[in-house]
Amino acid sequence: MRTSVQPPKVLPSANDVCWCGSGRKYKRCHKPLEGRVLPGIVSPMRTVPDHIARPPYAATGQVARRPESAVKTPDVIARMRRAGAAAAEVLRLAGELVKPGITTDEIDEAVHRMCIERGAYPSPLNYQRFPKSVCTSVNEVICHGIPDSRELQDGDIVNLDVTCYLDGVHGDTNATFAVGTISEEDRHLIAVTEECMWLGIETVKPDVPLSEIGRAIESHARKHRMGVVRSFIGHGIGEQFHTDIQVLHYYEPRNNTLMRPGMTFTIEPMITLGSEKHRMWDDEWTAVTVDGKRTAQFEHTVLVTDSGYDVLTAPGAVSPTFPRHD
Ligand code: MF3
Ligand code: CO
Ligand code: CO
Repeated sequence: MRTSVQPPKVLPSANDVCWCGSGRKYKRCHKPLEGRVLPGIVSPMRTVPDHIARPPYAATGQVARRPESAVKTPDVIARMRRAGAAAAEVLRLAGELVKPGITTDEIDEAVHRMCIERGAYPSPLNYQRFPKSVCTSVNEVICHGIPDSRELQDGDIVNLDVTCYLDGVHGDTNATFAVGTISEEDRHLIAVTEECMWLGIETVKPDVPLSEIGRAIESHARKHRMGVVRSFIGHGIGEQFHTDIQVLHYYEPRNNTLMRPGMTFTIEPMITLGSEKHRMWDDEWTAVTVDGKRTAQFEHTVLVTDSGYDVLTAPGAVSPTFPRHD
Protein backbone atom coordinates (compact mmCIF):
# COMPACT_ATOMS: atom_id res chain seq x y z
CA MET A 1 0.00 0.00 0.00
CA ARG A 2 1.05 3.56 -0.66
CA THR A 3 1.87 5.38 2.60
CA SER A 4 -1.08 7.57 3.47
CA VAL A 5 1.11 10.39 4.81
CA GLN A 6 2.72 12.18 1.88
CA PRO A 7 6.06 14.01 2.15
CA PRO A 8 5.93 17.85 2.01
CA LYS A 9 7.06 19.73 -1.12
CA VAL A 10 10.10 21.15 0.69
CA LEU A 11 12.02 18.32 2.34
CA PRO A 12 14.00 18.72 5.60
CA SER A 13 17.81 18.63 5.69
CA ALA A 14 19.41 15.34 6.66
CA ASN A 15 19.83 16.19 10.36
CA ASP A 16 16.48 17.93 10.84
CA VAL A 17 13.54 16.13 12.38
CA CYS A 18 11.57 14.02 9.90
CA TRP A 19 8.36 15.42 8.40
CA CYS A 20 6.38 12.29 9.31
CA GLY A 21 6.10 13.06 13.02
CA SER A 22 8.26 10.18 14.23
CA GLY A 23 10.57 12.59 16.05
CA ARG A 24 13.57 10.93 14.42
CA LYS A 25 16.16 12.63 12.29
CA TYR A 26 15.08 12.80 8.63
CA LYS A 27 18.21 10.90 7.54
CA ARG A 28 17.32 8.06 9.95
CA CYS A 29 13.65 8.00 8.94
CA HIS A 30 12.17 8.79 5.50
CA LYS A 31 15.27 10.08 3.68
CA PRO A 32 16.45 6.61 2.67
CA LEU A 33 13.14 6.12 0.84
CA GLU A 34 13.44 9.34 -1.15
CA GLY A 35 13.31 8.64 -4.85
CA ARG A 36 12.65 4.94 -4.24
CA VAL A 37 9.83 3.03 -5.86
CA LEU A 38 6.95 2.49 -3.43
CA PRO A 39 4.48 -0.35 -3.78
CA GLY A 40 1.01 0.65 -5.00
CA ILE A 41 -2.32 -1.16 -4.92
CA VAL A 42 -2.55 -4.46 -6.83
CA SER A 43 -5.90 -4.90 -8.60
CA PRO A 44 -7.83 -8.22 -8.52
CA MET A 45 -6.50 -11.07 -10.67
CA ARG A 46 -7.69 -10.94 -14.27
CA THR A 47 -9.52 -13.86 -15.84
CA VAL A 48 -8.74 -15.73 -19.06
CA PRO A 49 -11.57 -16.90 -21.35
CA ASP A 50 -12.24 -20.63 -21.55
CA HIS A 51 -11.13 -21.04 -25.17
CA ILE A 52 -7.50 -20.12 -24.27
CA ALA A 53 -5.39 -23.21 -23.50
CA ARG A 54 -3.59 -22.85 -20.17
CA PRO A 55 -0.42 -24.25 -18.67
CA PRO A 56 -0.94 -26.72 -15.80
CA TYR A 57 -0.08 -24.19 -13.04
CA ALA A 58 -2.82 -21.76 -14.17
CA ALA A 59 -5.43 -23.54 -12.07
CA THR A 60 -3.37 -24.16 -8.92
CA GLY A 61 -0.56 -21.60 -8.81
CA GLN A 62 1.74 -24.53 -8.16
CA VAL A 63 4.51 -25.36 -10.60
CA ALA A 64 5.22 -29.09 -10.79
CA ARG A 65 8.36 -29.63 -12.84
CA ARG A 66 8.45 -32.65 -15.09
CA PRO A 67 11.28 -34.02 -17.21
CA GLU A 68 11.65 -32.22 -20.54
CA SER A 69 14.33 -32.82 -23.11
CA ALA A 70 16.83 -29.94 -23.44
CA VAL A 71 16.97 -30.59 -27.19
CA LYS A 72 13.60 -29.88 -28.76
CA THR A 73 11.90 -31.73 -31.61
CA PRO A 74 11.21 -29.83 -34.87
CA ASP A 75 7.54 -29.75 -33.87
CA VAL A 76 8.24 -28.09 -30.52
CA ILE A 77 10.60 -25.63 -32.20
CA ALA A 78 7.96 -24.69 -34.78
CA ARG A 79 5.49 -24.02 -31.97
CA MET A 80 8.08 -22.04 -30.01
CA ARG A 81 8.59 -19.78 -33.01
CA ARG A 82 4.89 -18.89 -32.86
CA ALA A 83 4.86 -18.36 -29.09
CA GLY A 84 8.06 -16.31 -29.38
CA ALA A 85 6.67 -14.17 -32.19
CA ALA A 86 3.52 -13.47 -30.16
CA ALA A 87 5.57 -12.46 -27.10
CA ALA A 88 7.82 -10.24 -29.23
CA GLU A 89 4.83 -8.45 -30.71
CA VAL A 90 3.08 -7.98 -27.36
CA LEU A 91 6.29 -6.61 -25.85
CA ARG A 92 6.71 -4.12 -28.70
CA LEU A 93 3.11 -2.91 -28.39
CA ALA A 94 3.31 -2.73 -24.59
CA GLY A 95 6.49 -0.67 -24.91
CA GLU A 96 4.59 1.85 -27.04
CA LEU A 97 2.26 2.48 -24.08
CA VAL A 98 5.11 3.53 -21.79
CA LYS A 99 4.74 7.22 -20.96
CA PRO A 100 4.46 9.41 -17.85
CA GLY A 101 1.13 8.94 -16.07
CA ILE A 102 0.25 5.40 -17.17
CA THR A 103 0.07 2.93 -14.29
CA THR A 104 1.81 -0.43 -14.46
CA ASP A 105 -1.64 -1.96 -13.84
CA GLU A 106 -2.88 -0.35 -17.06
CA ILE A 107 0.10 -1.88 -18.89
CA ASP A 108 -0.81 -5.24 -17.34
CA GLU A 109 -4.40 -4.90 -18.55
CA ALA A 110 -3.15 -4.22 -22.11
CA VAL A 111 -0.64 -7.11 -22.07
CA HIS A 112 -3.30 -9.45 -20.71
CA ARG A 113 -5.71 -8.46 -23.50
CA MET A 114 -3.06 -8.59 -26.26
CA CYS A 115 -1.98 -12.12 -25.24
CA ILE A 116 -5.58 -13.33 -25.32
CA GLU A 117 -6.20 -11.64 -28.70
CA ARG A 118 -3.35 -13.77 -30.06
CA GLY A 119 -4.78 -16.95 -28.55
CA ALA A 120 -2.07 -17.02 -25.88
CA TYR A 121 -2.19 -17.40 -22.10
CA PRO A 122 -0.04 -14.76 -20.34
CA SER A 123 2.49 -17.11 -18.73
CA PRO A 124 3.22 -15.07 -15.55
CA LEU A 125 -0.44 -15.19 -14.44
CA ASN A 126 -0.60 -17.49 -11.37
CA TYR A 127 2.90 -18.86 -12.02
CA GLN A 128 3.89 -19.75 -8.46
CA ARG A 129 0.98 -17.46 -7.53
CA PHE A 130 2.36 -14.42 -9.38
CA PRO A 131 -0.81 -12.28 -9.49
CA LYS A 132 -0.44 -10.49 -12.85
CA SER A 133 0.12 -11.11 -16.58
CA VAL A 134 3.43 -9.28 -17.04
CA CYS A 135 6.34 -8.26 -14.81
CA THR A 136 6.88 -4.48 -14.60
CA SER A 137 10.17 -3.52 -12.95
CA VAL A 138 10.75 0.18 -12.35
CA ASN A 139 14.12 1.90 -11.60
CA GLU A 140 15.84 -0.05 -8.78
CA VAL A 141 13.55 -3.06 -9.25
CA ILE A 142 15.77 -5.78 -10.72
CA CYS A 143 12.97 -8.12 -11.86
CA HIS A 144 9.54 -9.62 -11.07
CA GLY A 145 7.88 -6.29 -10.23
CA ILE A 146 4.11 -6.69 -9.79
CA PRO A 147 1.96 -4.28 -11.82
CA ASP A 148 0.05 -1.93 -9.50
CA SER A 149 -1.50 1.53 -9.17
CA ARG A 150 1.85 3.37 -9.36
CA GLU A 151 1.98 5.87 -12.23
CA LEU A 152 5.15 5.91 -14.29
CA GLN A 153 6.98 9.20 -13.80
CA ASP A 154 9.02 11.24 -16.24
CA GLY A 155 12.62 10.06 -15.82
CA ASP A 156 11.74 6.50 -14.70
CA ILE A 157 13.00 3.44 -16.51
CA VAL A 158 10.76 0.37 -16.69
CA ASN A 159 11.34 -3.20 -17.76
CA LEU A 160 8.40 -5.11 -19.24
CA ASP A 161 8.84 -8.89 -19.19
CA VAL A 162 6.32 -10.61 -21.47
CA THR A 163 5.87 -14.36 -21.74
CA CYS A 164 3.24 -16.01 -23.93
CA TYR A 165 2.02 -19.60 -23.67
CA LEU A 166 0.80 -20.56 -27.13
CA ASP A 167 0.46 -23.96 -28.84
CA GLY A 168 1.65 -25.63 -25.61
CA VAL A 169 4.98 -23.78 -25.33
CA HIS A 170 6.35 -20.54 -23.88
CA GLY A 171 8.14 -17.57 -25.47
CA ASP A 172 9.85 -15.21 -23.01
CA THR A 173 11.23 -11.74 -23.79
CA ASN A 174 11.78 -8.44 -22.03
CA ALA A 175 13.14 -4.95 -22.60
CA THR A 176 13.75 -1.78 -20.61
CA PHE A 177 12.04 1.43 -21.73
CA ALA A 178 12.57 5.11 -20.92
CA VAL A 179 9.64 7.01 -19.41
CA GLY A 180 9.71 10.50 -20.95
CA THR A 181 13.15 12.08 -20.64
CA ILE A 182 15.76 10.06 -18.76
CA SER A 183 19.26 10.87 -17.52
CA GLU A 184 22.36 10.23 -19.62
CA GLU A 185 23.49 7.71 -16.99
CA ASP A 186 20.25 5.73 -17.33
CA ARG A 187 20.44 5.87 -21.12
CA HIS A 188 23.95 4.43 -20.91
CA LEU A 189 22.81 1.71 -18.49
CA ILE A 190 20.04 0.66 -20.87
CA ALA A 191 22.37 0.71 -23.92
CA VAL A 192 25.09 -1.33 -22.23
CA THR A 193 22.53 -3.84 -20.90
CA GLU A 194 21.09 -4.44 -24.37
CA GLU A 195 24.63 -4.82 -25.74
CA CYS A 196 25.38 -7.34 -22.97
CA MET A 197 22.38 -9.41 -24.05
CA TRP A 198 23.43 -9.39 -27.71
CA LEU A 199 27.06 -10.18 -26.92
CA GLY A 200 25.79 -13.16 -24.90
CA ILE A 201 23.52 -14.25 -27.76
CA GLU A 202 26.34 -13.99 -30.29
CA THR A 203 28.37 -16.65 -28.44
CA VAL A 204 25.61 -19.22 -29.04
CA LYS A 205 26.80 -22.07 -31.28
CA PRO A 206 26.95 -25.87 -31.02
CA ASP A 207 29.75 -27.27 -28.81
CA VAL A 208 30.36 -23.94 -27.03
CA PRO A 209 30.03 -24.18 -23.22
CA LEU A 210 27.14 -22.18 -21.69
CA SER A 211 29.75 -20.34 -19.59
CA GLU A 212 30.80 -18.37 -22.70
CA ILE A 213 27.50 -16.48 -22.54
CA GLY A 214 28.21 -15.21 -19.05
CA ARG A 215 31.82 -14.51 -19.88
CA ALA A 216 30.83 -12.20 -22.76
CA ILE A 217 28.16 -10.45 -20.71
CA GLU A 218 30.29 -9.94 -17.60
CA SER A 219 33.30 -8.61 -19.47
CA HIS A 220 31.20 -5.99 -21.29
CA ALA A 221 29.49 -4.88 -18.06
CA ARG A 222 32.82 -4.67 -16.19
CA LYS A 223 34.31 -2.55 -18.97
CA HIS A 224 31.63 0.01 -18.17
CA ARG A 225 32.07 -0.47 -14.40
CA MET A 226 28.57 -1.86 -14.11
CA GLY A 227 27.42 -4.81 -11.98
CA VAL A 228 25.96 -8.15 -13.10
CA VAL A 229 23.15 -9.58 -10.95
CA ARG A 230 23.99 -13.15 -9.96
CA SER A 231 20.85 -14.27 -8.12
CA PHE A 232 18.57 -14.38 -11.17
CA ILE A 233 19.60 -16.31 -14.24
CA GLY A 234 18.48 -17.34 -17.73
CA HIS A 235 16.76 -20.68 -18.10
CA GLY A 236 15.80 -23.49 -20.40
CA ILE A 237 12.31 -22.99 -21.83
CA GLY A 238 9.85 -24.97 -23.93
CA GLU A 239 6.70 -26.77 -22.87
CA GLN A 240 7.58 -25.48 -19.40
CA PHE A 241 8.33 -21.85 -18.52
CA HIS A 242 11.54 -22.75 -16.67
CA THR A 243 13.48 -25.95 -17.35
CA ASP A 244 16.83 -27.35 -16.24
CA ILE A 245 19.34 -25.40 -18.31
CA GLN A 246 20.90 -22.57 -16.29
CA VAL A 247 22.27 -19.54 -18.10
CA LEU A 248 24.51 -17.53 -15.78
CA HIS A 249 25.17 -13.95 -16.82
CA TYR A 250 28.64 -13.93 -15.21
CA TYR A 251 31.63 -16.14 -15.91
CA GLU A 252 31.51 -19.46 -14.06
CA PRO A 253 33.79 -22.08 -15.65
CA ARG A 254 31.84 -24.91 -13.97
CA ASN A 255 28.79 -23.92 -16.07
CA ASN A 256 30.36 -26.11 -18.79
CA THR A 257 27.36 -27.83 -20.41
CA LEU A 258 27.90 -27.70 -24.16
CA MET A 259 25.29 -26.03 -26.35
CA ARG A 260 23.60 -28.48 -28.73
CA PRO A 261 21.47 -27.85 -31.83
CA GLY A 262 17.81 -27.79 -30.79
CA MET A 263 18.41 -26.43 -27.28
CA THR A 264 16.23 -23.46 -26.31
CA PHE A 265 16.97 -21.11 -23.44
CA THR A 266 16.74 -17.48 -22.45
CA ILE A 267 19.52 -14.93 -22.09
CA GLU A 268 18.36 -12.14 -19.79
CA PRO A 269 21.13 -10.15 -18.11
CA MET A 270 20.27 -7.73 -15.30
CA ILE A 271 22.93 -5.00 -15.13
CA THR A 272 23.32 -2.48 -12.29
CA LEU A 273 24.82 0.98 -11.82
CA GLY A 274 25.78 0.07 -8.25
CA SER A 275 25.52 -3.03 -6.10
CA GLU A 276 24.56 -6.29 -7.80
CA LYS A 277 23.03 -7.58 -4.54
CA HIS A 278 19.27 -7.73 -4.11
CA ARG A 279 16.69 -7.40 -1.37
CA MET A 280 13.13 -8.71 -1.58
CA TRP A 281 10.01 -6.64 -0.91
CA ASP A 282 7.47 -8.12 1.51
CA ASP A 283 5.42 -9.29 -1.51
CA GLU A 284 8.15 -11.95 -1.98
CA TRP A 285 8.40 -11.18 -5.71
CA THR A 286 9.81 -7.69 -6.18
CA ALA A 287 13.63 -7.84 -6.15
CA VAL A 288 15.34 -4.46 -5.69
CA THR A 289 18.99 -3.46 -5.56
CA VAL A 290 20.19 -3.13 -1.94
CA ASP A 291 21.57 0.36 -2.58
CA GLY A 292 18.54 1.64 -4.51
CA LYS A 293 20.64 2.33 -7.60
CA ARG A 294 19.07 1.63 -10.97
CA THR A 295 19.19 -1.58 -12.97
CA ALA A 296 18.13 -2.63 -16.47
CA GLN A 297 17.41 -5.93 -18.22
CA PHE A 298 16.86 -7.33 -21.71
CA GLU A 299 15.77 -10.87 -22.60
CA HIS A 300 15.36 -13.09 -25.62
CA THR A 301 14.48 -16.74 -26.07
CA VAL A 302 17.11 -18.32 -28.32
CA LEU A 303 17.46 -21.58 -30.23
CA VAL A 304 20.82 -23.23 -30.89
CA THR A 305 20.96 -24.01 -34.62
CA ASP A 306 23.46 -26.18 -36.54
CA SER A 307 25.63 -23.15 -37.22
CA GLY A 308 24.79 -20.64 -34.46
CA TYR A 309 21.57 -19.23 -33.07
CA ASP A 310 18.07 -18.10 -33.91
CA VAL A 311 16.26 -15.54 -31.78
CA LEU A 312 12.76 -16.96 -31.32
CA THR A 313 11.41 -13.76 -29.75
CA ALA A 314 12.64 -11.48 -32.56
CA PRO A 315 11.31 -13.04 -35.75
CA GLY A 316 13.54 -12.34 -38.71
CA ALA A 317 16.07 -10.59 -36.49
CA VAL A 318 19.68 -10.65 -37.50
CA SER A 319 22.53 -9.45 -35.34
CA PRO A 320 21.73 -5.79 -34.74
CA THR A 321 23.74 -2.88 -36.03
CA PHE A 322 23.14 -0.39 -33.21
CA PRO A 323 26.35 1.36 -32.00
CA ARG A 324 28.40 -0.57 -29.47
CA HIS A 325 30.20 1.08 -26.55
CA ASP A 326 33.61 -0.53 -27.26
N1 MF3 B 1 9.64 -13.88 -17.33
C1 MF3 B 1 10.48 -14.12 -16.16
C2 MF3 B 1 11.76 -14.75 -16.67
O1 MF3 B 1 12.35 -14.18 -17.53
C3 MF3 B 1 9.83 -14.98 -15.15
C4 MF3 B 1 8.68 -14.35 -14.50
S1 MF3 B 1 8.02 -15.46 -13.37
C5 MF3 B 1 6.68 -14.63 -12.84
O2 MF3 B 1 12.16 -15.80 -16.30
F1 MF3 B 1 6.02 -15.45 -12.12
F2 MF3 B 1 7.08 -13.56 -12.18
F3 MF3 B 1 6.00 -14.25 -13.86
CO1 CO C 1 13.10 -15.68 -18.68
CO1 CO D 1 11.08 -13.14 -18.87
